[in-house]
Amino acid sequence: MPSQEPMLTRRPSSHNDERATEEDALLTGQRPSRQPSASRWARYREIALFAWGLIATAAVIVLAVVYQHQTSKTTPEKHGDRPTGKRNLVFMVSDGMGPTSLALTRGFNQHVNALPWDHTLGLDKLLIGNSRTRSSNSLVTDSAAGATAFSCGHKSYNGAISVTPDHSPCGSVMEAAKRAGYTTGLVVTTRITDATPACFVSHVRTRMMEDEIAEQLIGNGPLGRNVDLVLGGGRCHFLPNTTAGGCRADGRDLIQKADEHDWNYVSSREDFDNLGTSVKLPLLGLFAPTDIPFEIDRRHVDSEYPSLEEMTKTALRALKDATKDSDQGFFVMIEGSRIDHAGHNNDPAAQVHEVLAYDRAMQAVIEFLEEDDTEGLMVATSDHETGGLATARQLNVNYPEYLWYPGVLANATHSAEHTARLYFSHLSTSKSSDADLGKYLTKLIDDNLGIKNITPEEIDHLIAHPVLSPWTMSEIISKRSQTGWSTHGHSAVDVNIYSSNRHASKKLHGNHENTEVGEFLRWYLDVEDEVKEVTKELKEKLDISSGESWLGAIPSQEELAKVESHLMSPQRGFD
Ligand SMILES: *[C@@H]1O[C@H](CO)[C@@H](O)[C@H](O)[C@H]1NC(C)=O
Ligand SMILES: *[C@@H]1O[C@H](CO)[C@@H](O)[C@H](O)[C@H]1NC(C)=O
Ligand SMILES: [Zn+2]
Repeated sequence: MPSQEPMLTRRPSSHNDERATEEDALLTGQRPSRQPSASRWARYREIALFAWGLIATAAVIVLAVVYQHQTSKTTPEKHGDRPTGKRNLVFMVSDGMGPTSLALTRGFNQHVNALPWDHTLGLDKLLIGNSRTRSSNSLVTDSAAGATAFSCGHKSYNGAISVTPDHSPCGSVMEAAKRAGYTTGLVVTTRITDATPACFVSHVRTRMMEDEIAEQLIGNGPLGRNVDLVLGGGRCHFLPNTTAGGCRADGRDLIQKADEHDWNYVSSREDFDNLGTSVKLPLLGLFAPTDIPFEIDRRHVDSEYPSLEEMTKTALRALKDATKDSDQGFFVMIEGSRIDHAGHNNDPAAQVHEVLAYDRAMQAVIEFLEEDDTEGLMVATSDHETGGLATARQLNVNYPEYLWYPGVLANATHSAEHTARLYFSHLSTSKSSDADLGKYLTKLIDDNLGIKNITPEEIDHLIAHPVLSPWTMSEIISKRSQTGWSTHGHSAVDVNIYSSNRHASKKLHGNHENTEVGEFLRWYLDVEDEVKEVTKELKEKLDISSGESWLGAIPSQEELAKVESHLMSPQRGFD
């Protein structure tokens, strides 16, 4: 039987040092016996060598730290470049767009334009990382908490408009940029009082306070006016609810009040086109009472509403002109707002057109930056994914098919929202029998959604639950295209980050918290100090103002829960 002994006993050697003895001691469990007869000189030499090693190591560390500190100022490889001179920053948000929205849109685009299988979207070439999106009180964020992460760089609760979890206001990057001398802008396709744009220019404790958001946006808030150019929808919260297209409960007309802040107000496609090459800032362009129609519908009424791409081009030109003689450039937030709404409706046909419209707007930004002489950067991300979209769907218990059908989406000429709106207005104007209604719906679905084989069960469902019809109609398309959805709300999947300049946005390569995107914006603009000042000033104004009216009361859990269920209802497009 082989003995364990040889493994534990070190063979005597001429260099039998103490380390070896100690190692043996660890293995054998025996205390090492020191030899007092060992050379004293050898001991001293060892101590000296050890001390020298210690000093040399410390010196190397100190030198390395000093060197790194110095080079980080001069070599951009370390942290990415923060330009020192005049610069422009374009921050783009694709609200509710997750990675699957891109697979869906690529497949659709390749199908309808007969493009090769490796054809990608413009933005695919600009991918640099992705972002984790949870909020302070939920693994699934809403747009308000998502945009607060971008504007303030803080996680907050769902429903928070640039306030922290303790309900106190946090300075936004746009307010700080304005203070630092930048010219600022907001371009959206939803209501300008909706959560994403609201977070850049207002502070309220729940996103439902859209009347107050409009008030702060035009300059009646604690900090005055912080945005110079506004293009989008949402006249509703600027006009009293006693006038057409108005919904303000306090009867105030902010469009008239806007004069007090020198706003140049435009509200129609004609006004927009007439802006021409000379745009007078501040500009307030509100082209719809609430949302600008989905792109799939808007393209049929192009003479009524500008597209996101057109608004983007106008905004960039106006901001460039306004800053041509100033030391500071501009900061603009441009949002593809309604990708999210198509997701809430689970409407894949509406979604692919929204994503393509966003992609065109991004290409317009890239072209602008390439041609412009001023240093500039575009950074883009989403606040969250909406719908839990899947580009495959199992329809029966058999082994699933590996496919989905983009051709079904291609045959739809309108959104489910628009189609349902036509159905609602039909119901309100005519009393027909179920048989007549069935015929009407068969034609309606064929004309707008391009579906010729609607089933009696689907017709029955539309007749029995008209209020659910935007969802029922989307489902008719989703099923046939084998598109899957897991929710009418948001999901927790990571979302992509894009940039026009990989190098300058090096800090955002890889996987990040959404708050790091917010930190990047203030870092690039070099307004970190201004953010602190603005936060301080907001808190001071909160203390001295009686009643804290501009921030609103602390919302209860029930109120916050109600916000989400209201925003998710199938009638959300019908307010
Ligand atoms: C306008 O809002 C007020 C306050 O909420 C409400 O009492 C009134 O009924 C509304 N008017 C209309 C026309 O909706
Ligand atoms: C799209 O519509 C065309 C013309 O009606 C039809 O021939 C085709 O089958 C439809 N495609 C799908 C995928 O439903
Ligand atoms: Zn959102």
